[in-house]
Parts: sequence; C-alpha cells; structure tokens
Amino acid sequence: MKKILSLLILSLIILTGCSSTKHLDSDAPVDQRVADLLSMMTLEEKLGQMTQINTADLLDDIDIADYYLGSLLSGGGVGPSTDDPADWADYYDNFQNYALSTRLGIPLIYGVDAVHGHNNVYGATIFPHNIGLGATRDADLVEEIAHITAIEVAGTGMDWTFAPCVAVPQNELWGRTYEGFGEDPVLVNELGKAAIRGYQGGSLSAPDTILATAKHYVADGGTMGGKDQGNAVIDETELRETHLPPYVGAIEENVGSIMASFNSWNGDKLHGHKYLMTDLLRGELEFEGFIVSDWAGIKQLKGNYDQQIVTAINAGIDMVMCPADYIPFLDSITDSVNEGLIPMERIDEAVGKILKAKFQLGLFEAPLTDRSFTSLIGSDEHREVAREAVRKSLVLLKNEDSILPLDKNLEKILVSGVNANNLGAQCGGWTLSWQGERGNDLTIGTPILEAIEQAVSGNSEVIYSMSGKKSDGTEDVAIVVIGEQAYAEGKGDRKTLNLPPDTLETITKIKENGTKIVTVLISGRPMIINDVLELSDAFIAAWLPGTEGQGVTDVLFGDYAPTGKLPHTWPASMDQIPLDMNSDHGDEALFPYGFGLTY
Ligand code: GLC
Repeated sequence: MKKILSLLILSLIILTGCSSTKHLDSDAPVDQRVADLLSMMTLEEKLGQMTQINTADLLDDIDIADYYLGSLLSGGGVGPSTDDPADWADYYDNFQNYALSTRLGIPLIYGVDAVHGHNNVYGATIFPHNIGLGATRDADLVEEIAHITAIEVAGTGMDWTFAPCVAVPQNELWGRTYEGFGEDPVLVNELGKAAIRGYQGGSLSAPDTILATAKHYVADGGTMGGKDQGNAVIDETELRETHLPPYVGAIEENVGSIMASFNSWNGDKLHGHKYLMTDLLRGELEFEGFIVSDWAGIKQLKGNYDQQIVTAINAGIDMVMCPADYIPFLDSITDSVNEGLIPMERIDEAVGKILKAKFQLGLFEAPLTDRSFTSLIGSDEHREVAREAVRKSLVLLKNEDSILPLDKNLEKILVSGVNANNLGAQCGGWTLSWQGERGNDLTIGTPILEAIEQAVSGNSEVIYSMSGKKSDGTEDVAIVVIGEQAYAEGKGDRKTLNLPPDTLETITKIKENGTKIVTVLISGRPMIINDVLELSDAFIAAWLPGTEGQGVTDVLFGDYAPTGKLPHTWPASMDQIPLDMNSDHGDEALFPYGFGLTY
C-alpha cells in the first residue's frame, strides 16, 4: 500500500512538473529558491513574469492566471474608485488570488507611483514633492517619510513603489523638475539613498517595507531645453559626473529595481541602450536588481513592435510595463525566443531577478494585504511628520524689516492669491490623478487659507479675496499665495517660467493700498519672480507642500523658524536658463544654490 502511495505522489509531482518544493522553503537561500523554481517553469510561465499590466487595462481579471502575469501596476490615478483604503486592499487581494491560483502559484508584484506618499489613495498622507524635500537637506526626515509611505502602501497590499526619482534636473523648463531633489548630484544621491532605506528598510520581507525603484535611468534631467523624454546631448563625463552618482548610491543601498528612462542619450533611446543598461549598470556598477521599462517605453525604439521587444530585452530590460497589450506582447516575445532572437539565458536572467525580488519581499509566504497597516493610512501621526517636512522645506527669500514672523493677534489679515485655497495646487501632480487636481475636494488636507484661519487668535479677522479686490488698506497684512497649477511629466514642460499674468495685478492692487505683503509661491520649480519679489515685503518659496498646509503657517506665525535652503540656483531672467551652480553666469542668479534666510 505504502509503495503504491509513494508511486502515486511521485507521478503527481512529475505530472505537475513540480519536481521539488525547495523554492517554497523560506529558510533556503534566495538564489537556490530562484534556481529551483526557474527549473520548473515553462517558457509561457517565464515570459508572463516579465509582463507588467496596468490594472485598468486588464481585459479580464482571469487573464492574470491564464497568461501567468507576473506584475500589475496602478498608473497615475488608477485604482478602485473609493474613499475607503480597505477597498484598495480588497482590490489588490482579488488580483493576487488569481496569480496564486496558477500551477506554480507565483505571486504578483504590484507597483504604484507612491512618489510623495501613497498619492493615488484618498485620505493618504501627501508629503512635499522631492524638490521641497531637497530644500530640507534632511536625509533622516526623507528616510522617515519613505518608511511612512511604505506603511501606507503596504496597508493597501501593494509591494513596490516607482520611487525615488533620482533625476538631477538641470533645466527648470522640464515638467518633472519637482520630482527631483535638486540640481546637485551630491544632494540627490544622499536623499535618494535615504528614500531607498526608508522604503526597503533593513529587510524587504518585513511587512512595513516595499521594493523601491531608482528612476529614470539615466540623464532624464539632462535633456536639451528640459524637454521631457527628450535628448540628453552630453558627453560621457557629464553623464557620469551629473546623472550617474544617484544610481551608484542606489545600488549601494541595494535598490530592488531601476526604471529605464524615456529620454535618449546623444540620440539613442535608453530603453534600447545595451551599454548603459547592461555593460555599465549590470557590469561596472554590479546592479543586482531588475530593470523595468517605463510606460510603453519600448515602443519608442526603432523598428516594429517585434523588433522593439527584441532590442529592449537584449539591451537589459527585464520587465516590460506594457502597460496594456499583454497578448500581442506575449505572442511576439514567445516567437522571438523560439526563433533564437532572444537567448534563453537572457530570459532566465530576467525572470531570475524578478523572482529574487518576490522571494526577498516574502510574497510567497505572505502574498495578501497585511491589514494591520490599513488603518494607519493618513493617520494624525503620519500627518505630523508631513507637517514637519513642510516647515523644513520652506525657503525664506526675503524678509524686509523682519515683517515675519507675523503676530497671531493681528486685527485684520487679507488672504489672497490663486493658490491660497487650492489643495490641488498645493499637492501638485501625481495626486489622486496623474496630472493632479484643482480645488479642495481631491482628498483630506488643509489648504493654506484654512491653516491661517486655524493659526490666528480668536480676535483676528481673516478676509479671503483671491483676486485681492477686497483690499482697502485697512488690513494689517496681506498673505498672497501664488504660483502654478498641478501638472505632471511633459504636460509641465514650459517655454517660460514667468508667473501667470494676473499675479502681478493682484499684488500691485494690494500694494497700492499701502498694505504689507507676504508672498508664498507654490511651484514645482524656481520661477521668474523679480517684479513680484520687489513688491513683496517677505517672500517664501513653498514648492509643492502637499496636504499639510499648517506647515506653512507654523513658519509664517513663528512657531518655527524657516530653515530651508534652495535646491536649485534661482534665475533672474529667462536668458539664464538652463542655470545651475556651475553655470558661467551662475553669479548673476537672483539667488544662489543653498540660499535661505531664517528669523
Ligand atoms: C510614467 C512615468 C514614470 C511612472 C510610470 C508608471 O510615464 O514616466 O515615472 O513610474 O509611467 O506610472
């Protein structure tokens, strides 16, 4: 009887191809688990692991199982339409269960752009964008923010953030300037490393850690004219000195993934650049994680789709963010492998790196949402850290006659400007939607106007007049919050950094009444502010502070002194752009890199 039973089990194992279960042994070394699992996988199962699909583009959830898909993502703003984070956890678990239902039960790895908090999720804590964190110069704070973000991401089940962006923006016309920590590679490297430590923690298998992504490799911030997805026309010395250091640092921190960039280097698209992705990143820098493409990035390569796939995979891309056409992708790559256009060794290398990340994350042991974190999303404790980050990100550029800090007992305060009551602008792009929003309805947070109303004492009168029309000279001071509206990626590319025309009108009108003016600039980059600065008695660069507007009033009313330092050289005119600390006319800048006043 016993003999028959063991024969039965053996034939079952052989039938299902599961010749071993070592990959399920969480105590076994990861590389053995990877080798064991790889040895059992069919080509179809392997290629499915290299395929990443945007959840909104799934034709049917069952396709996750039918095509052995290895990864999903929520593109900007994509997710369940809900105000309840618990619905996100259900959303994630639903997809994961399809993956677990396959023959080998390889769990999904699910990525999301949690770039300044878990910003797709209603009620999540929204931190200052990276340009503001650059102004804090506080690596410990950046690490803490990334750890909090990891907790909030884990609370919805997701395992992976496409962050930190370690671009070194050299031209402020670029729409993604605010996603970088600043113009200095030393600063970007230091804060990028801190963010990776915060996201990945001491052990990726810990429930409060997620995989990080250093992006976008490489020289995304160095394109001509600051054109998004444009061409970085620079020599290798410039590439290595300005844009590569943050990747050296990221690799020192064992970053789990790196995202290829849309841009080109001297005319060659990064998504097909074998020298940069394989020889340099994998060879010279010994990057051990996996390379993920950007959103349909391989389609920007030369040739037809079949050729683009072959070029990208052979150049070093391990996972393709399709993000939609998984059936044509899988058909094409299968043919290319069978025709020998893509070596099986390349496939095994790519799949091995993806499986390694999944083992390290503990996904085989705990694939579903750890719901103990879900209730922490947007917690008061998290928001306090965000408020601290806002305070430390503010850069005081002018303070005539020490008008700041303001007295909380002032009798009459006028609050004006297009961004005084505009949480959407305050948060910027990548907030609840890809491009961000206007107004205050997008999520839970405190617009600066509300923060001012909360900060002043009971006998102060706060008058809100966006255009400034209500100014009559009887107000003790005007706080005018100006700047940009939310944008993301190329939609933020500009030809000029001038402020919206009505800005000067508003400030001039108030000034003509003899009122002292404190100007707060909400923007994703330095802008041309000369005229407005001249009329302002005090001027603060607040960048894109996020939901916690009280961080601004904490400084305006003196609970904290400003400590922020410019992460970019500030241009005095458009003909100085592109401008950085090494520019030959850097000394004619309006303010130098690192400038910042205090009380
Ligand atoms: C976008 C961005 C990238 C982001 C990805 C997924 O196009 O370039 O930063 O992580 O797609 O949303």
